[in-house]
Amino acid sequence: MTGTSTGQRMEHQDINPFTREELGQEICRLKEQKNAIILAHYYQEHAIQDLADFIGDSLGLSRQAEKADVDLIVFAGVHFMAETAKILNPEKKVIIPDINASCSLAESCPPQEFRQFVDAHPDHVVITYINCTADIKAMSDMICTSSNAEKVIMSVPESQPIIFAPDCNLGKYLIKKTGRDMLLWDGTCVVHEAFSMDKILELHKMHPEAQFIAHPESEGHLLDIASYTGSTAGMIKYVKSSPSKEFIVGTEVGILHQMRKVVPDKVLIPAPIREDNTCACSECAYMKLNTLEKLYLCLRDEKPEVNPDPGIMEKARLPIRRMLELSP
Ligand code: 13P
Ligand code: SF4
Repeated sequence: MTGTSTGQRMEHQDINPFTREELGQEICRLKEQKNAIILAHYYQEHAIQDLADFIGDSLGLSRQAEKADVDLIVFAGVHFMAETAKILNPEKKVIIPDINASCSLAESCPPQEFRQFVDAHPDHVVITYINCTADIKAMSDMICTSSNAEKVIMSVPESQPIIFAPDCNLGKYLIKKTGRDMLLWDGTCVVHEAFSMDKILELHKMHPEAQFIAHPESEGHLLDIASYTGSTAGMIKYVKSSPSKEFIVGTEVGILHQMRKVVPDKVLIPAPIREDNTCACSECAYMKLNTLEKLYLCLRDEKPEVNPDPGIMEKARLPIRRMLELSP
């Protein structure tokens, strides 16, 4: 899935005769020439992470995008992340290596159905997880990410009922943490839903000293046994600060690239997934649509561009800004 190794010739006719190493050099050259910045999520392929100016979680990436003083933002992540970058910094051109890099959570929440759901509960405040489209954000009162969701929920008066969408696993986790009255949308992340409790427990028997750490998009019974639950950036911070030497990591495997750099002396084991799942490991197929080759082409051709409807962007900006003000 991550393409050919260094030294091999690329097959795509547009990028012949570059090797992967040369492609990396070309990407750096084009970045300079075009006054561009590359923002990458932790789930991107290693080569893309290594070329990025900033790697982060959804909140960190939003902040970097908002303050990026460049001509071109290249967003190596999924579509909702690039869309958020454009909403926060609308004067800049935002491009993404593969325009089809979606997200199962964003796809679970079609705007028309969500509109009906919101209209059916007019007394509820609408808080949505950042993993949704700009249309859904435009219907929301406040956005949150996995690193500030608790804080965002707690900022709403206690008696106020809340609609939370689209991730029901994160929603259930937040109900448990905050005790708040929340009506949940039934979306899930296909990657985090695939982890197998039985296999994690089996693995733990072989590594009794290992701590299991999890992303809050995982199912509740997994979060119940986790030593730490948090965003991708939070998980990296945790393995660094924890005295433990071994971890079973319950999120997309791409994160291990940066984790290994931060704690090269610790043992990091990707959490196993259920056998009935079609993919071999916990890779996000959406995130992995972005490749080094596509990164080069998008920087060279300055497309595909992410450019949501201006009216939708205007409406979506307010709930995102409310979140950013709450978690500086
Ligand atoms: P983070 O904000 O924690 O990086 O999560 C993004 C995501 O899509 C997790 O699946
Ligand atoms: Fe969406 Fe899950 Fe992929 Fe994150 S890992 S982008 S939540 S499908």
